[in-house]
Amino acid sequence: MTERTSLAAGAASTATDFESVVAKRLSRRAALMGMTAAAAAGGLGSRLFSGEAKAAAETSLTFTELTRIYDEKDHVAPGYAKQVLVRWGDPIVKGGAAFDPAKQSVAAQELQFGYNNDFLAFLPLPAGSNGSDHGLLCANHEYVNPHIMWPGLTADDAGQKIDKSQAETTMAAHGHSVVEVKKVDGKWQVVADSAYGRRISALTKIKISGPAAGHDWLKTSADATGTQVIGTLDNCSGGVTPWGTVLFCEEGVADWFGGDSKKTPNPAFMERAGYGELEDLNGWARFEDRFNVEKEPNEPNRFDWVVEYDPYDPASQPVKRTALGRFGHEAATTVLNKDGRVVVYMGDDDYFEYVYRFVSRGTVNTADRAANRDLLDDGTLAVGKFHEDGMLEWLPLVFGQGPLTAANGFNNQADVVIQARRAADLLGATPMDRPEDFETNPVTGRVYLVLTKNSKRTAEKVDAVNPRAKNKWGQIVELLPPGEGKDADHAADKYKWDMFLLAGDPNAAETGAKYGTGVSANGWLANPDNIAFDPKGRLWIATDGAPDFGIADGLYAVETEGPARAVPKLMYAVPMGAEMTGPWFTPDGQTLFVSVQHPAEAADSLDKVATRWPDFDDKVPPRPSVVVITREGGGEIGA
Ligand code: FEO
Ligand code: CA
Ligand code: CA
Ligand code: CA
Repeated sequence: MTERTSLAAGAASTATDFESVVAKRLSRRAALMGMTAAAAAGGLGSRLFSGEAKAAAETSLTFTELTRIYDEKDHVAPGYAKQVLVRWGDPIVKGGAAFDPAKQSVAAQELQFGYNNDFLAFLPLPAGSNGSDHGLLCANHEYVNPHIMWPGLTADDAGQKIDKSQAETTMAAHGHSVVEVKKVDGKWQVVADSAYGRRISALTKIKISGPAAGHDWLKTSADATGTQVIGTLDNCSGGVTPWGTVLFCEEGVADWFGGDSKKTPNPAFMERAGYGELEDLNGWARFEDRFNVEKEPNEPNRFDWVVEYDPYDPASQPVKRTALGRFGHEAATTVLNKDGRVVVYMGDDDYFEYVYRFVSRGTVNTADRAANRDLLDDGTLAVGKFHEDGMLEWLPLVFGQGPLTAANGFNNQADVVIQARRAADLLGATPMDRPEDFETNPVTGRVYLVLTKNSKRTAEKVDAVNPRAKNKWGQIVELLPPGEGKDADHAADKYKWDMFLLAGDPNAAETGAKYGTGVSANGWLANPDNIAFDPKGRLWIATDGAPDFGIADGLYAVETEGPARAVPKLMYAVPMGAEMTGPWFTPDGQTLFVSVQHPAEAADSLDKVATRWPDFDDKVPPRPSVVVITREGGGEIGA
């Protein structure tokens, strides 16, 4: 205790404001973790490497780290096997045709795996079992890169040049896939002509439920009821509910709309929701009025929600759950709280946006799956306010409470959820460094929040939880609800929080990076995005943006407790131009599914791609794909 107190005081007396803020927040953990004062305060990162041998000796993650590599291929740590399981264009629905890049069409794409796979979840078959050899792989498809899907388009002109057939094909390539997968003789494969195989896309009819269903702002010329929408878009990450349905997110779909938002009835409303400047990147507004805000100003209000569907019932209609608020949803991960209610954690991935939590009013019925069908339509949405002293407060976004009244233009709960960002502004929530994934450690009950980066944060706007100006690297924050493990209360109004790590190269003093003692030259990371816990409670971190620092994006494993806390190790690296997304483990921890999203995206056009991963065929474009990682000879991933 004495050491921690003196560390904070010492840092405050000599360091810059930024360093003192960091030191204050890190001091509580420093002694427990064996961190040096310099490491805790940021800067002087080279000293971190001195403990490498000690951390290596004491971690449960005994795998040999991958040596950094960034080239046209993907790479996995020694002793591990990798296998491409399913690629963009592979048939996954009964009757689907093999991929032919010269014959892409909406009809073909609707039966094939979509583009830019992101979130992944493995749901065991049969339903309700805990098996690890057979199941449904549920995958999001965030967006498309037409300029490397077809020849003759460039990154700059694709939106203007794309034709109607191509535009419709890209609509079908967004969304979500259900792929039946099975391990046969130790090798994973897609089950052909599966009855579960399914595509959900920008062309799928989706129901709108919860407080905003039927609201005037959700009505369009195609839907006078405000309860049915065509399509889902920008499906980044997601989660799985305790009753075995999938949640997938719409992460700010403005890029796919066109028209002039200033020529709509309420430009300020559009602006705050992220629709101020519209680029129509896929050219859709040229072909369909619903994507032109001058013609259908309410259409955007029908997007940027969380969608729930049942992968075990291919005929079921997906539903947009408006009680969870409207914003740039990255992920929606759930916890079954000790009192039986379901809690959903959600980040809004944009500069200076917020973190949110939803707590259901009703409790989960663990005996009757169908009884939970509308549980996510009724509950309390709240937004996070991080205090400098390490307290996190959840502020309810409830109509009639605090400033959320008619005086500020809110007349009911629908007005609040549709304008969740504006409501959160009024409550004084903490603007964050681009919130991405959230996950709960299944062993400790602590919650981990990923902030990917924020180059727009100025020195004046630095605070304890977003401690770096011009933050190019991102950070991971640890949230501590009252209680531990299964007794943690995820519905409490107040949590504690702590900084888990500040990403960046610890050898470069200007980063202010912070890890536990002993991170290796291969183990530091930048731009954390999606995370997953393995069954033992070790955290796996996928990155998005690391090529800015000359390294590949990839997947890192890290312990959250013990001597090797916050000391990541590199397991996997993606090919050039790709980001790493979607880590998900089978229940036995022996299979790890990962998403390789947008390989070669940085190319101007298809003839200039840096890689044609994974086919390496000059006639086949690079293909976003799901990769399976297993241990050679079998066994638990990580060690
Ligand atoms: Fe789609 Fe927030 O990354
Ligand atoms: Ca993401
Ligand atoms: Ca996750
Ligand atoms: Ca990202």
